[in-house]
Amino acid sequence: MVMEMIVPRQIRNVALVGFMGVGKSSVGRLVTGELQFEFVDTDEVIESRTGVKVSEIFAMHGEAAFRKFERELVEEMASRSGSVISTGGGLVLEPGNLASLKSHALVVCLWATPDTIYQRTKHQTHRPLLQAADPLAKIRALLATREAAYKQSDVLVSTEQRSIKEIAAHVLHHFRAAQLNPPRL
Ligand code: S3P
Repeated sequence: MVMEMIVPRQIRNVALVGFMGVGKSSVGRLVTGELQFEFVDTDEVIESRTGVKVSEIFAMHGEAAFRKFERELVEEMASRSGSVISTGGGLVLEPGNLASLKSHALVVCLWATPDTIYQRTKHQTHRPLLQAADPLAKIRALLATREAAYKQSDVLVSTEQRSIKEIAAHVLHHFRAAQLNPPRL
């Protein structure tokens, strides 16, 4: 008989994933303060390293180049502890990113309906993928293709009808519980 050793997961960080406009950065900053962790936003790191905005990377080099930056950054995150990592909405699409995050973080997906996302993002212009003729249709289509990936997260937290503070409290609760009792992969 082969005895399988179950090694508990290391939950050293919190990773926030989810669609554009669900509040990952705002919630992430609040959670960071509560835990006295360090905040990292993958879009911000990519912008500071390349010296250009995400929208310019998309326009000049294409989405694939941006996804490559994200992929490399995710691998770097594995050496961190005490960090809240807020990720770009499409980061979960790249095979391997979610598994890599799960090797050191509790992966929490913030969730909202297409209509809510549309309401929250309609006056913003910095997201290249939402600069479409019909942004709501684009949100619906993108969300449909990403839903399965988002649902691979450890925890799904609805952001509907909740304040940033309430959402952060849910994330904190799940993180503290996971540190005591790490979820299975
Ligand atoms: C993207 C989401 C953006 C940014 C880029 C692509 C996506 O981040 O990474 O515009 O594919 O969903 P936010 O989710 O922080 O808006």
